[in-house]
Amino acid sequence: MPPAMPSPDLARLAEPGSPEELLVRRIDFERLPRHVALIMDGNGRWAAERAQPRVDGHRAGVDAVRETVETTARLGIPVLTLYAFSVENWKRPRFEIWTLMNLLKEYIRRELDELVANGIRCRPIGRWRELDDSVVRQLERAVEATAGGERMTLNIALNYSGRCEIVDACRHVVSDWAAGKRADIDEETIGDYLYTSGLPDPDLLIRTSGELRVSNFLLWQIAYTEIWVTSTLWPDFRRGHLYRAILDYQSRERRFGGVGGGAGEGSTDAALAARHRERGA
Ligand code: FPP
Repeated sequence: MPPAMPSPDLARLAEPGSPEELLVRRIDFERLPRHVALIMDGNGRWAAERAQPRVDGHRAGVDAVRETVETTARLGIPVLTLYAFSVENWKRPRFEIWTLMNLLKEYIRRELDELVANGIRCRPIGRWRELDDSVVRQLERAVEATAGGERMTLNIALNYSGRCEIVDACRHVVSDWAAGKRADIDEETIGDYLYTSGLPDPDLLIRTSGELRVSNFLLWQIAYTEIWVTSTLWPDFRRGHLYRAILDYQSRERRFGGVGGGAGEGSTDAALAARHRERGA
């Protein structure tokens, strides 16, 4: 029998008597998503609504990052992936990019002790080693300091593109195959070579600001992910939104291409292999 889930400290998830508490009480802690992925969108619009420069939206977005990381860990969700900077974001003005990189460095500088104390393992994903040296150094520091964290893995997607991730995985698979380290190539092999290797695929993808796009995020991993979109702009995203997303996720029937009533998750390769076995039987 799997070990009993430690019950979360409700008082740390919501103020007693608050609307958030009503939401938290409805969450089934036995059926939490194992991995939540988040497209943090709408910082620019948040700033525009206030006649402020776009970078002010990003600054305000850091508070939402802090609250979301803290709450996700407190809920007991093992993996959180944040889309912080895409390969396509290089098209933005230089000052905006510079500000985003500085906000990231500042976030790590300020939060590192908390991340360590709370058992949160920080793992940048993407072609992050191509970022400015000062950012790479700070990220390496965070990876090293948080390596022992067992409560939650925090993936920060930086200089990330889902298509580049698949290209990188293919290159790596082919070079290992040519060196005789890999014999066959199937879905599991590809998964092993992605940046998220060893982690479960996202069960839930949240996108803020109302856009109905996946924007080149975790393209392979979200094949069967449940998507929840809110019109709330990222800087206004708070724990109550996260609770609503989880409740909505828990209300859905996941069929993974089956017909329900126990259709399990599994790779297409596994499904095909089962079909071949049936045919041979
Ligand atoms: C999208 O909003 C947001 C981003 C490209 C950056 C997200 C970064 C942060 C929230 C801050 C730093 C991150 C960490 C992890 C500390 P947008 O600018 O595309 O908004 P718009 O669509 O309204 O223009």
